[in-house]
Amino acid sequence: MSGTPKILLQARGVARAFGEGARRRAVLEQADFHICRGEHVALLGRSGSGKSTLLNIIAGIDRAESGVITMNDTDLARLREPARTLFRREHIGFVYQFFNLLPTLSVFDNIALPLQLLRMPEKEIARRVAELLNAAGLDARGGDYPDQLSGGEQQRVAIARALAHRPALVLADEPTGNLDAAAGRRALKLLVGARDTKDAPGLLTATHSREVARAADRVIVLDGGRISDGGGDKQEQLAW
Ligand SMILES: Nc1ncnc2c1ncn2[C@@H]1O[C@H](COP(=O)(O)OP(=O)(O)OP(=O)(O)O)[C@@H](O)[C@H]1O
Ligand SMILES: [Mg+2]
Repeated sequence: MSGTPKILLQARGVARAFGEGARRRAVLEQADFHICRGEHVALLGRSGSGKSTLLNIIAGIDRAESGVITMNDTDLARLREPARTLFRREHIGFVYQFFNLLPTLSVFDNIALPLQLLRMPEKEIARRVAELLNAAGLDARGGDYPDQLSGGEQQRVAIARALAHRPALVLADEPTGNLDAAAGRRALKLLVGARDTKDAPGLLTATHSREVARAADRVIVLDGGRISDGGGDKQEQLAW
């Protein structure tokens, strides 16, 4: 990358609490961070620190109570339905910890779904899905259903689905959390491999895995409801 990296996503003062009255508990208090275009940022933090909550807010699945999240020039918090859904469909890919494939759709159709929602012509969809199946090492499995696949294979399908529409931002919530080391490495390779393309997506990966954190350009840590956007000395943060 030449010159100053361009900021893709900027979060300022993002806050979210759950529960009412005396049971109210702040999960995010002051999340400040950014992701540059094409940059891979690993989001670390102990279990329950709010990593999934933050990813869900960025994806528009959940809402922040305050704070600003801008992606390119769009203020995500201000988007109302259906604009929010349309924005997500076009610009964001999401990889869930538990794969979340649709059981009644074949592997091919699971990957094709985001493209169909964007009304891509069928021929182009077929080409793109074939390319992704190949990258995932699943050429022969397009006609299978998710329950005929191993966990590692399902996760590669889920990653292929998240990348299908070439989103500007991919959010991955512990993408290797339920896989053994070898399957995790393969999933990570597919995810990170997307960054070899011309319009590499920004990637925000919530993880407990040091291997995933090591593969990232930068690490941010969620602790006590806060992320401080210090730019990120990766070595120092990996000591966490
Ligand atoms: N819908 C909800 N209602 C009430 N509390 C919630 C809700 N969603 C999350 N929480 C609480 O918010 C806190 C943060 O949860 P979150 O799932 O974001 O953590 P996490 O960092 O992703 O943890 P893990 O590493 O275990 O996945 C937890 O204490 C959780 O119980
Ligand atoms: Mg989580």
